[in-house]
Amino acid sequence: MSAKEILKAILPHPVGRWLGNHRLPFERIRRRFQIGGNLGSLRRKTPVNPYDYGESRGQCIDRYYIEQFLTVQSADVRGHVLDFCDDTYAQKFGGAKATKVDVLHLSADNPHATIVADLARGDQIPSDAFDCILCTQVLHCIYDVHAAVSTLYRILKPGGVVLVTDPGIQKIDCVDIKNEEEYWRFTSLSLRRLFEEVFPKDHVEVKTYGNVLAAIAFLHGFAVEDLPREDLEYCDPDYEVTITLRAVKPMVTLTPRQSY
Ligand SMILES: C[S@@+](CC[C@H](N)C(=O)[O-])C[C@H]1O[C@@H](n2cnc3c(N)ncnc32)[C@H](O)[C@@H]1O
Repeated sequence: MSAKEILKAILPHPVGRWLGNHRLPFERIRRRFQIGGNLGSLRRKTPVNPYDYGESRGQCIDRYYIEQFLTVQSADVRGHVLDFCDDTYAQKFGGAKATKVDVLHLSADNPHATIVADLARGDQIPSDAFDCILCTQVLHCIYDVHAAVSTLYRILKPGGVVLVTDPGIQKIDCVDIKNEEEYWRFTSLSLRRLFEEVFPKDHVEVKTYGNVLAAIAFLHGFAVEDLPREDLEYCDPDYEVTITLRAVKPMVTLTPRQSY
């Protein structure tokens, strides 16, 4: 005899009927105290795709958000542009507006690099040089992020714009095939504060992308093609998959930290 049948047999009929009519709240309470949720096929300790961030299946979920941000800000990608690693984003979002492009890389082994420098020191990079800096997926690889942000401020022309993206929720690639060390995961709050210590507060804008489903899919190495667009587009501020920031250097330049 099931628990339901026992209850039916012992309870007076009106009580049983009342309970039947109020099944939904009881079901909710039962689910709340149930041990072990139904995680379906994702109840596993290893990722579905352990090989990469999703690129073997299509477009990486973080790249979808990064490129959405750069599309919205594409008017900023103009004049003398600084990109990192290669000039893909300078060309894609700047086009003919990017009249001169430099590529910064930490080590000299990158054939695309026109400037080899450490952003945390940055002595070799000229001051007041760039109209736009595309600092995508870079800062989490730099230990001294405070120094790096000061360099970004110094090397921007007055009125110049830095467009930043960094991971909020993302796995770490321990295999480190690209020899890129990862030190940090940011939140919108930490990234904002980092820049507001150097740029004026009202010159800094932060936006986040992602939701719990996009985060889980990205952690498992699924790609954009694995999800319907509306699932990627929904933005839940509690799940910061990608954090984006736009900061503008004032026309009248002040020494960082001097007066903000
Ligand atoms: C994950 S790649 C991102 C490249 C590109 N911007 C993108 O969106 O794919 C990280 C980049 O950060 C650069 N990087 C890491 N540490 C750096 C440092 N201390 N100074 C300057 N660049 C650094 C690496 O050279 C590499 O180009």
